[in-house]
Amino acid sequence: MVVVGGGIAGLCVALAAAPRPVVLFSRSRGAEGTASAMAQGGIAAAVGPGDDAVFHAADTLVAGACHNHVGAVLDLALAAPDAVQWLASLGAHFDCADDGRLCLGREGGHDRARIVHAGGDATGHAVMQVLAAAVANAPHVHWLAGHTLQAIGLSADGRVAGVRVRGDVGQVAPLAAADLVLATGGIGALFGATTNPEGADGSGLALALAAGAEGRDLEFIQWHPTAFASSSGRHLPLITEALRGAGASLVDEQGVPLMQGTHPLGDLAPRDVVARRLWRHRRAGGQSWLDARTVEETAWRQFPSVLSLCAQHGIDPRSDRIPVTPAVHFHMGGIAVGQQGESSLAGLHAVGEVACSGVHGANRLASNSLLEGVVCGRALGARLRSRGERPAPVRHWVDAGPEADSESREHITMHLTAALGPLRSGESLAAAMAAITGGPAMAGSWQGRLALALLAPALARKRSRGAHYRVDSTSGHNIRQGIETPAYGEIA
Ligand code: SIN
Repeated sequence: MVVVGGGIAGLCVALAAAPRPVVLFSRSRGAEGTASAMAQGGIAAAVGPGDDAVFHAADTLVAGACHNHVGAVLDLALAAPDAVQWLASLGAHFDCADDGRLCLGREGGHDRARIVHAGGDATGHAVMQVLAAAVANAPHVHWLAGHTLQAIGLSADGRVAGVRVRGDVGQVAPLAAADLVLATGGIGALFGATTNPEGADGSGLALALAAGAEGRDLEFIQWHPTAFASSSGRHLPLITEALRGAGASLVDEQGVPLMQGTHPLGDLAPRDVVARRLWRHRRAGGQSWLDARTVEETAWRQFPSVLSLCAQHGIDPRSDRIPVTPAVHFHMGGIAVGQQGESSLAGLHAVGEVACSGVHGANRLASNSLLEGVVCGRALGARLRSRGERPAPVRHWVDAGPEADSESREHITMHLTAALGPLRSGESLAAAMAAITGGPAMAGSWQGRLALALLAPALARKRSRGAHYRVDSTSGHNIRQGIETPAYGEIA
């Protein structure tokens, strides 16, 4: 079988499929360059005293505006403690207190401290090092880095029969495969500001849609409120939400708290709520800062990545405020998959951010994404372990379409960023669609087609829900916990 994607989900699928031979293609070498390795948040798991998977599931549903698949949410929350133990058994060192108990952090949308970390805010890096080493030593996995997926081969009866990949020196190679797992990550690189790496360009999703797989919830795109605003370019480093869990707060240029009176959980409101607040404030000409000067001196041990990033920009967050801005962080939508990771296209499976099982609903809860990669990746690998179908001959190849030229890419980015931000309107969505459709170089490219696939459901969904917030919503209400609430306690 073939797995495409070297992030946490792809590595977990590959490991769990043993002893079935796996060819793993990834763009980056080892763990570096993946969104998983950049993750500063940790892994949410109900392992603390008095905590329970049901509470974790409830927080996931509330953050997701109850747009979630409830069974998937329960499975994820129930499997979380075991996922942490499994990673520890592979060699991940989770942060512990002197008495040996796991240190638990708190992030937005969680009703309590529930996040385990390894190396503080360098958790993604630590966990990925361990997984990459395990995969590199796994005799059943042949890992080919520096490769991108170009095309999917389909058999006469329309099922997956092979892949064509391009290597780093431009060579293209076909490979027969009856099972193809896409774990290609998100879409942030299509936007003007993102915490994602360059490889998160949506190409895996675009190819799957072109091959006939169904998409789901494509309009639900999460903006993280606190990307570092001082960096140039559109790939902005993250300032972890865990800092707010440790006492930091969001303030305006005068130092006035931005989240006060906006939501009962204040700075720890679900991400969509916080991102909207900052977006509104910045659109009105204001600036936004994270004031972490209140974080206790001993707690800074947990934030080596933030300290080093700030130091590179001449900021000491123990005495200076950190400039922050919302940026695209996570795609809740993706290739529609069932609870086993199966897509609507026979032989195509998807997992992690490129997939949509419904587990994250309309807005992902903090620190549920590494968790999803581990839990769903392992489950999918185990399911595929015993399937040994021989691939049918390839009847035809499907690629996503031509690459947009750099000018068209810039325009697509501009339209997507304007229309699919934390605040949306029918007018801006329709304008973005018309502009892309009306520009043949944009509309004919795979990036343009993918952009239209994201915009169309956003235009069609007239009511706000989670990260999809329509300022022109007829009711002016948001849906949370299955109940329409006046914008979930937010100030409109
Ligand atoms: C963060 O650390 O703020 C991000 C964690 C996540 O993506 O859940």
